Amino acid sequence: MLIKTASFVKSSAKYEQCPEMNMPEFAFIGRSNVGKSSLINAITNHKKLAKTSGTPGKTQLINHFIINEEWYLVDLPGYGFAKISKKMRAEWKVMIDNYLYNRESLMNTFILVDSRIKPQKLDLDLITSYGEKNLPFTIVFTKTDKLKDNILAKNIAEYKRTLLEQWEELPHIIITSAIDKRGTEELLGYIEESIPIFFKDEH
Ligand code: GTP
Ligand code: MG
Repeated sequence: MLIKTASFVKSSAKYEQCPEMNMPEFAFIGRSNVGKSSLINAITNHKKLAKTSGTPGKTQLINHFIINEEWYLVDLPGYGFAKISKKMRAEWKVMIDNYLYNRESLMNTFILVDSRIKPQKLDLDLITSYGEKNLPFTIVFTKTDKLKDNILAKNIAEYKRTLLEQWEELPHIIITSAIDKRGTEELLGYIEESIPIFFKDEH
């Protein structure tokens, strides 16, 4: 998919404040610092569309970006940020659950996981809750430029094994890097394929 335009629309503290549900929408979710904002910038070819930071917890609101005047890309706040209070963590869950349950225009969520680390409970819990709610999602491995091919393959195989302990089938998986742009075409292609389905259903 060719990205003709990409711009920031708004940041919302609650799902009620999000833009009208008049376009298909795709969200990025994952642990703080996993590389959500960086990957959004990589797929849209914009260095500063979404704010990135070496400090976890940079994105704390639901951020909507409009792409090609056709669909929304959503940068969600990261979870698992160690310095966050219990109260803030609970607020994050309410914010995200409300968003996921009510956002009918949400076509797919990309759950980002760091390819360098072992499967984490918080990520697996999130994947379980998506599965239980029957919400469509894709697992996206990030930061793969930091690993040699054989280590990457080993880590991904271990992740798949862990998922298969709970699920009969593996979800869709995309392997990416915001640095060398691995997987960005595939991710955009996947989004593009999901858009006509929405229009067929809704228009
Ligand atoms: P929060 O907004 O805090 O939830 O973080 P985030 O998930 O949006 O992460 P962000 O994109 O801000 O990236 C966090 C750090 O990881 C930054 O220092 C990025 O430069 C770095 N980073 C992100 N993606 C990649 C990648 O693909 N490769 C490498 N080498 N570094 C990356
Ligand atoms: Mg971010």
